[in-house]
Amino acid sequence: MIRIAPSLLSCDFSRLGEEIKACEKAGADWLHVDVMDGHFVNNLTLGPVIVKAMRPHTQLPLDVHLMIDNPEKYLEPFAKAGSDVLTVHWEVCKERTGEVLKQIKSLGVRAGVSLNPDAPAEAIFPYLEGADLVLVMSVFPGFGGQSFMEEVLPKVAAIRARFKGDLEIDGGITHETGPLAARAGAEILVAGTYVFGAADYAEPIQRLRSWCSSVPDTGA
Ligand code: DX5
Ligand code: ZN
Repeated sequence: MIRIAPSLLSCDFSRLGEEIKACEKAGADWLHVDVMDGHFVNNLTLGPVIVKAMRPHTQLPLDVHLMIDNPEKYLEPFAKAGSDVLTVHWEVCKERTGEVLKQIKSLGVRAGVSLNPDAPAEAIFPYLEGADLVLVMSVFPGFGGQSFMEEVLPKVAAIRARFKGDLEIDGGITHETGPLAARAGAEILVAGTYVFGAADYAEPIQRLRSWCSSVPDTGA
């Protein structure tokens, strides 16, 4: 089942509540929230106070992507703010990944681990059992509007072959690249500029869902 998660990074933040409602009305399944710290990535975005402000505006799962160093320090505030999924980067946690995933779960939140485009699938194999979600980056994180990197597709397939949980892809997703990711085994598609660049968000969300749902499952 394909799920679409608009990335609010590309929304109009001066109208955040309305943008959330518009995504909901347009048929979004999850809302993707990009947290950047100016260290792990070269950009700064938002903290728990914004997640808390978003929470009363929607019942949709808030899928919080932590592109930050020292995520352990901020897991509790993000959980308390109302996050449904907290995803950390393997590049930051490395051998602490298992512990960090445990910490997320102990806060009553679903635990995700993400890989940058240059990290091999094998890096997270030891942690798959402890993860509810794996997020494969199809751009180097930091900014919306970058081009999809097709070279990550074998990694998606390699993870899909071993992982029963949610497999998400993020970066450069459109109705052309989404089906490639879906064919490789991704089922949660994050899309920022593709959704928020449209006048009516229902159009890209529906197109993405139908183009990606019609691809045959390779079982790869
Ligand atoms: C990239 C973020 C993505 C990004 C997606 O650092 O993690 O969620 O905003 O934006 P698009 O869909 O425009 O690539
Ligand atoms: Zn993201």
